[in-house]
Amino acid sequence: LTLCGAILVLAYLLGSFPTGYIAVKQLKGIDIREVGSGSTGATNVLRTLGRGPGAFVLVLDCLKGVLAITLVYWLFQFASSQNLIPATVDVKLWLSWMVILVGSAAILGHSKSIFLGFSGGKSVATSLGILLAMSWQVGLATAGVFAFVVAVSRIVSLSSIVGAIAVPVFMLIFHQPLPYILFAIVGGIYVILRHRSNIERLLAGTEPKIGQKVITEP
Ligand code: G3P
Repeated sequence: LTLCGAILVLAYLLGSFPTGYIAVKQLKGIDIREVGSGSTGATNVLRTLGRGPGAFVLVLDCLKGVLAITLVYWLFQFASSQNLIPATVDVKLWLSWMVILVGSAAILGHSKSIFLGFSGGKSVATSLGILLAMSWQVGLATAGVFAFVVAVSRIVSLSSIVGAIAVPVFMLIFHQPLPYILFAIVGGIYVILRHRSNIERLLAGTEPKIGQKVITEP
């Protein structure tokens, strides 16, 4: 139980690691939260610094999610090798609940970073990493939907919202366990809520496409 708690805290700290903030601070000397959409995510880094740094932050933020879930698998391997899991425990169920708890901690960390006064990004890249580590089929299918909407609309936020809606559907299609489906629904709602300001701009027709600047939010 102590180990499970430690991994949850570690996943939150991992998610909290402010990749986008550090990149923009180091390369341009400014606070990314004061430019563009105000988000610390890869899209705002792309807007502020260009493609290379944007892609770099996207990959690192995605890896935070992959690593958080990998920690659970390591914990599981360690616990089994030390015979720490009681025989009465349903191992598969335990593993899937741990995966979604740790995934949620990492998602929360990315958007409410302890290193940034509980501000951050919109958790899209980190969620994608988590999905890839949970089920590569669901992760790839979601990335495919995201890429398709980006290619058609050139609007990242719209692609993230459509991707978030698609995840529970892919969880069902790929026969994932119930905790994963619940995680996809709750996580999807959270990611969509993080896009409230984007939704307002989308409805007003003012959401910037890739390559366009966005008016700084108050
Ligand atoms: O991943 C975040 C993206 O969906 C929107 O980012 O900076 O346009 O609000 P941004």
